[in-house]
Amino acid sequence: MIILMIVFINVNVLAQQYVLLGWNDLGMHCSNKDFSKIAILPPYNNVYAQLILKQTGHLPQIVTTGYTIEYSIPGNTYSVGKTNFWTYAQALFGLPNPLPPNIGLTGKGLTGNMDISGNNFKAVGIPNTPFIDSDLINERPFQLFHLIAKSGGNTVAFTDNVIPVSNEVNCLQSGCHSSEQNIKNEHPDVPGFKLNSAELCARCHASNALGTQGDSVAKSFSFRMHEHHHDIQPVNGIETCYKCHPGTNTQCFRDVMRMQGNMVCQNCHGTMQTIANSIENGRRPWLDEPRCGATTCHGSTYSEEPGKLYRESRGHGGLLCSSCHGSPHAVYPSREANDNAQSIRLQGHTGVINDCMVCHSSPPTGAGPHGILYIGIIKLGNEVPEEFKLHQNYPNPFNPITKIKFDVAKSSNVKLVVFDFLGREVEVIVNNDLSPGMYEAEWNGAGFASGVYIYKLISDDYTRSGKMILVK
Ligand code: HEC
Ligand code: HEC
Ligand code: HEC
Ligand code: HEC
Ligand code: HEC
Repeated sequence: MIILMIVFINVNVLAQQYVLLGWNDLGMHCSNKDFSKIAILPPYNNVYAQLILKQTGHLPQIVTTGYTIEYSIPGNTYSVGKTNFWTYAQALFGLPNPLPPNIGLTGKGLTGNMDISGNNFKAVGIPNTPFIDSDLINERPFQLFHLIAKSGGNTVAFTDNVIPVSNEVNCLQSGCHSSEQNIKNEHPDVPGFKLNSAELCARCHASNALGTQGDSVAKSFSFRMHEHHHDIQPVNGIETCYKCHPGTNTQCFRDVMRMQGNMVCQNCHGTMQTIANSIENGRRPWLDEPRCGATTCHGSTYSEEPGKLYRESRGHGGLLCSSCHGSPHAVYPSREANDNAQSIRLQGHTGVINDCMVCHSSPPTGAGPHGILYIGIIKLGNEVPEEFKLHQNYPNPFNPITKIKFDVAKSSNVKLVVFDFLGREVEVIVNNDLSPGMYEAEWNGAGFASGVYIYKLISDDYTRSGKMILVK
């Protein structure tokens, strides 16, 4: 409640309105904690942002030049000691000089300025760990970063989103190996392998995550790992992937497709064996990945740009897909409250940014993202109603679009469902965790027959119905 009020005041004192959207590129970054024996991935996180100027009488404008964006991770201000990376970084990565404390491989620290890149901002290589300053024992994989956008020294917008990192690189915790030294002892006896000192697996095994070429005998790291471990059971269970990818505790795949679609990694990536075989057949690890736009998935209306990854693709108005949808594996709405915070702050409810008025200063008349005209659900101001209420739809009778207003008195999951006169469910218009406020949703009856329909609002402790008439 207090947080909401601060947000409210801040937004309203701004002379000009800006909207800042920030996100992480992958949805999860894993990193070793101990680098003394095996190094798979260093602390290395990437934050992206787009800043939108919202001016009355104008279309939204994505801006970069003349603005700065500062990043920080509140409560997580240092990394040296939370991992021994800085002890081994120079040797592992063949650096000319020791890495300065708390500075990562690209020169970025835990706070700093983002760089402009095309029509977005990015900070690549932030060396954060899953440990906050006040708790060095328990991993917190879903911490928030904080971004502040400034123009001429003045703050114009801010946002928070998840900077995910997990040390659950699970070779031991999974119960599979007894020690990292044992893993190394099992490694084929190959020339140059550093059996008794810190070793970077990607030094010989090509990895597009680290940009290493590797050698042709060693083959790619992804091929070796998935091929060598392809017998792990169950072949089609998410727990198989969590043996290495974070993990039983972290459960990095937490998005709408996991929570509502009950999907597992294999639905998109295939089995361990498929991952390995596809590399032998020419798939480039990390660069050739599943696509939303595949015909068996969402199809061409919802596709990435040709030849580009989801995280590199732009859609509506030049916005990166992730700006509205969130990171891969954390696509809104997510299991983690922190992933949903930005959507809730900007549009009052979880999920993809689907409220046109987040960016547009007046209701757009043309088609929006993916050709969507329908405005979905919008929050009408910041007033908090005393009680739940479902209002009569307007206009009524209607053809084919009508609006339904309703009041939400306390944070709850709210559904607005349309039934036909025989009580058969026709469409779910709203199914979201909503913060208190007054909302308006639209229903488009274009695809339905004339007649009487029932619309029903269902929340934890309030249920009401209304009647409406579609006349064609
Ligand atoms: C000095 C180069 C080098 C380094 C460093 C290295 N490997 Fe290898 N690795 C190889 C080569 C070469 C092979 C293929 C050996 C063969 O086929 O006989 C291999 C094979 C493997 C295999 C397949 C083994 C099998 O029998 O199927 C796995 C798994 C593997 N490496 C994991 C790792 C891991 C994990 C690390 C990091 C701790 C690592 N490697 C570091 C060179 C290296
Ligand atoms: C035995 C440990 C292990 C298991 C189990 C495992 N992975 Fe991996 N995976 C890795 C490692 C290590 C990398 C990083 C390779 C690199 O740096 O290139 C990786 C990378 C990947 C990548 C990115 C590289 C690529 O080939 O595109 C994908 C995708 C992936 N894993 C999916 C999965 C899925 C899906 C599962 C479960 C079916 C799974 N992994 C199970 C160890 C594992
Ligand atoms: C709904 C489909 C889907 C599911 C399910 C899924 N992934 Fe992915 N994964 C993707 C997409 C899409 C990408 C490429 C992201 C991009 O294009 O920016 C990706 C990329 C990756 C990568 C490469 C690094 C990256 O993020 O680009 C790894 C590693 C990975 N996935 C592991 C997993 C694991 C482990 C699971 C299960 C715990 C999983 N994925 C479940 C769609 C999926
Ligand atoms: C301006 C915000 C915005 C941008 C940018 C955007 N989308 Fe969407 N996307 C939406 C909205 C709104 C929906 C409708 C979801 C809803 O309200 O249920 C949607 C739906 C989707 C769906 C789900 C379709 C279904 O069958 O349910 C996919 C997949 C998708 N978008 C992919 C993408 C991809 C890929 C990109 C980048 C090329 C992208 N989106 C860019 C707003 C956006
Ligand atoms: C996250 C911010 C954002 C959201 C949400 C958003 N838009 Fe936009 N919209 C933009 C930007 C940026 C432009 C580009 C303006 C320009 O071309 O200069 C744009 C442009 C447009 C245009 C002008 C024609 C075009 O495609 O360039 C229309 C029409 C439009 N949006 C409709 C919609 C509708 C309808 C919705 C809701 C379903 C919506 N927008 C949601 C940011 C947004």
